[in-house]
Amino acid sequence: MKPKIFVTRPLPQEALNLLATHCEVQVHPADSALKPAQVGEACRDVEGLLAVGVRVNEEVLSQAGKLRVVANCGVGYDSIDVAACTQRKIVVTNTPGVLTDTTADLAFALLLAVARRVVEADRFVREGRWQRWEFAMMWGADIHHKTLGIYGLGRIGQAMARRGRGFDMQILYHSRRRADGAIEHELGAHYVDRETILRESDFLSLHTPLTPDTHHLIGAREFSLMKPSAFLINTARGKAVDEEALVAALKSRRIAGAGLDVFEHEPHLHPELPKLVNVVLLPHVGSATAETRLGMAMLAAENLLAALEGRRPPNVVNPEVYS
Ligand code: 8YV
Repeated sequence: MKPKIFVTRPLPQEALNLLATHCEVQVHPADSALKPAQVGEACRDVEGLLAVGVRVNEEVLSQAGKLRVVANCGVGYDSIDVAACTQRKIVVTNTPGVLTDTTADLAFALLLAVARRVVEADRFVREGRWQRWEFAMMWGADIHHKTLGIYGLGRIGQAMARRGRGFDMQILYHSRRRADGAIEHELGAHYVDRETILRESDFLSLHTPLTPDTHHLIGAREFSLMKPSAFLINTARGKAVDEEALVAALKSRRIAGAGLDVFEHEPHLHPELPKLVNVVLLPHVGSATAETRLGMAMLAAENLLAALEGRRPPNVVNPEVYS
């Protein structure tokens, strides 16, 4: 008999077909977030959960007595209570690698957009406000030869550094652990302390996972250290930034601007954010390309199948379950 699994949103057919060759698959038919109580209800009888944009917490797990694997379709797994899964010997997996370049592309797109006022200028033209060419029109900030500060030099941070190098930027980074000399050399990246990256970056791009340590990593104190000409780019997690402090810094021009793909209480925005011109706002689409979404779905499916078949999945986040 095939094991039963639950998939929380419709996925590309190729991934569903792969799952269906080995499992009895139930898919939530709408691309909207189920509440934990609903996920729990759907998981009463299943051995595998393929989690796409849902929270997996005690409320889910307490109803899912047969669950053996939670395969997250995403690299960040702050939405999963990993400790509670580990306690129940449930394997948790994620999808690193397949979305690295795509997310870094979007982070760089935000950097370009906010510095060169791309969205603001598009709106200006579209709304018929462009009457004549002016020498002093829409001046932005240069990107080339500026300093790019990478906060968190994991896969995506490294990919962002490569993009910065392509624009002749100077690369500084700060990370929990200092990177290998070989990586630093390849990226031309200089390790600096927290204070220095804040003080010296013209563009500060966040690439840390969300953990208790990175919650409100950037707040009023940090903004006060940044250059008034600096831009903040966040494609990591909204809760890494104190959004109230960010709004204050943007309004007072304590910093020059921000490019944001993630928000503290998404999909809800701070009410002041959409009123500001010096910010570009995106709806958490860092990994949203056809190729990458397919890659993520296939990798999540492979992880899930491996765990159900008793093989060690390629991307286990709680290896303790195997000890
Ligand atoms: C996911 C993401 O789409 O991978 C991540 O960490 O933020 C996104 O790519 C999102 O987490 C939904 O699962």
